[in-house]
Amino acid sequence: MKVDEFLVERWMNEYEHNVEYNLAETCVDPFTLFGFLNFVGRQDFFDDFKHKQLTYGHIEGTPKLREGIADMYRDVDPKNVLVTGGAIEANFNSFYSVVEPGDTVISVAPTYQQLFSVPKGFGANIKILDLKPENGWLPDIEQLKEHVDGKTKMIVLNNPNNPCGSLIDEPTLRSICEIAEDTDAYVHSDEAYRGLYIDPKDTVPSVVDIYDKGIAVGSFSKSFSLTGLRLGWITSNEETVHQFMLRRDYTTISKSMLDEALAAEAMPHIDRILERNNKIVRENWQMLDDWINNEPLLDWVKPTAGSVAFIKHHVDMKASELCLKLIYEKSTFLVPGDCFDLPGYLRIGYGNNKKLLEVGLKQVSEFLANL
Ligand SMILES: Cc1ncc(COP(=O)(O)O)c(C=O)c1O
Repeated sequence: MKVDEFLVERWMNEYEHNVEYNLAETCVDPFTLFGFLNFVGRQDFFDDFKHKQLTYGHIEGTPKLREGIADMYRDVDPKNVLVTGGAIEANFNSFYSVVEPGDTVISVAPTYQQLFSVPKGFGANIKILDLKPENGWLPDIEQLKEHVDGKTKMIVLNNPNNPCGSLIDEPTLRSICEIAEDTDAYVHSDEAYRGLYIDPKDTVPSVVDIYDKGIAVGSFSKSFSLTGLRLGWITSNEETVHQFMLRRDYTTISKSMLDEALAAEAMPHIDRILERNNKIVRENWQMLDDWINNEPLLDWVKPTAGSVAFIKHHVDMKASELCLKLIYEKSTFLVPGDCFDLPGYLRIGYGNNKKLLEVGLKQVSEFLANL
């Protein structure tokens, strides 16, 4: 299988550990292990766990964890939840299971590149559903209708979206699912940032709660601040999950017992974790908004969900050049829009620790003022 270079991952890998102010991070201020165990009141966690034999554990994920994940949906049976190595493995598993050469796969873009590069690698004909700033970085239903053809196997969404921070609302999501249903296609929705909303009223159901051929992918990395556990999940209808399981046997067997046991401790506290994290993103969003209002060379379509924003820059150079200068001159790290084929933009993560964001933004301001 030929595959395109994953531009964001290459960029992160190259620089993220060599900078002082990392504003490229997409996760919401990850817990320390100590901080997490305190947060969930399980300081005694290792007293029990240290006596467990380190076997393969539960192949599909521990029952406690799958039940906790299923509870985050309106109508998901725990047996239709598979625990995966992050959302990244869940996405891969879905494409590996569903996409065949010659299928049409319609994907939003800009988005997390895996969502169209992997189906392309599996031989799909990719049609891009353009997200444009003038449309609030949201999909155009008319373009979607034009893209649908007799071979459409899957429509791929990312809701909330990385890098744009846009959120497809329920009526639009329902329209997309109706279009998919007419052609018997799946709707794969990467919902890694689900649960983070700038306006608390803006909640949107998961695709699996409104469409039988919906495939939802979730993550412990972003909204739940447990990135280092490297866990996520996938859920869909029973038959589709069975297909996922047949493929997952070849890539995963099971996930780490320790990681799953820790993630399971989070489940009774999901509401409190989301409360913590929504407070962080909402306060930081405000800081970012105030900052952009005072930066003549920047503007944005305000993100409404998630923890990332895609900022338009009006500097006469490509974002990749600008970001490299920022690294070398200010030890400050952003993701250039070049990684999303849009060199006029910069991606910033605003789920960071407030102080870090504040100091990092000052560095960017000084850099822009000196241009
Ligand atoms: C939209 C999206 N999906 C999936 C992932 C991968 O997440 P995980 O850490 O759960 O593998 C990311 C990470 O940045 C992402 O932004």
